[in-house]
Amino acid sequence: MIIAIDGPASSGKGTLARKLALHYGLPHLDTGSLYRAVARRLLKDGADLHDTVMAEDAARSLTEADLSDPRLRDEETGEAASIVSAMPGVRAALLEYQRTFAHQSGGAVLDGRDVGTVICPEADAKLFVTAAAAVRAKRRADELRARGETADDRRILEDIEARDRRDAERAVAPLRPAADAHLLDTSNLSIEAAFEAAKAVIESAVHQSAAERPPDKPAGL
Ligand code: C5P
Repeated sequence: MIIAIDGPASSGKGTLARKLALHYGLPHLDTGSLYRAVARRLLKDGADLHDTVMAEDAARSLTEADLSDPRLRDEETGEAASIVSAMPGVRAALLEYQRTFAHQSGGAVLDGRDVGTVICPEADAKLFVTAAAAVRAKRRADELRARGETADDRRILEDIEARDRRDAERAVAPLRPAADAHLLDTSNLSIEAAFEAAKAVIESAVHQSAAERPPDKPAGL
């Protein structure tokens, strides 16, 4: 079974994807970490973030060390990731890895921005997870404070809105729900409530595709 989870920054999609992967016993890929790793490499090398040659080269040669860089999750890296992710060559270089991950035996859970639209349009279940920008900014600020870091609420909200705009307005694989994605607004939902809602969507999608499948094909679950 392939589960595609897309949505904007701090919508809760990563937490949801991890919980679903654990629940269904599936491997999980946080596709944002690939773009973050490309960005991190450029930042580390002191390269210009708009240098497409350097960015494509990094995307083609990512290593485990890049993916476990301790600064992968910080704000600077997230911002830089949204710049390199708008480059068609970077997206093309990372496409095959993501598709292969999704199609491993038994399937997988992938979260990102274009999983349901570009990486796996054939996914068994697609969720588009959203939340109001102010709610996402508050979650982000709480997360930073919990880690002992300082957080400027207004600046975080501005950054989230700028990243949403950049991700939604880019020419390649813009952030948008797939036509057959189920929208899940987590603005007023706890993690547990979002998880329950997501499971209900997945189970109904899987039963529906089982009902439509010819009798000789095995079920996804
Ligand atoms: O989800 P996360 O905040 O880790 O993603 C960082 C950035 O990577 C996003 O702002 C987006 O620009 C980019 N991204 C993308 N496509 C994906 C996942 C992430 O363009 N599938």
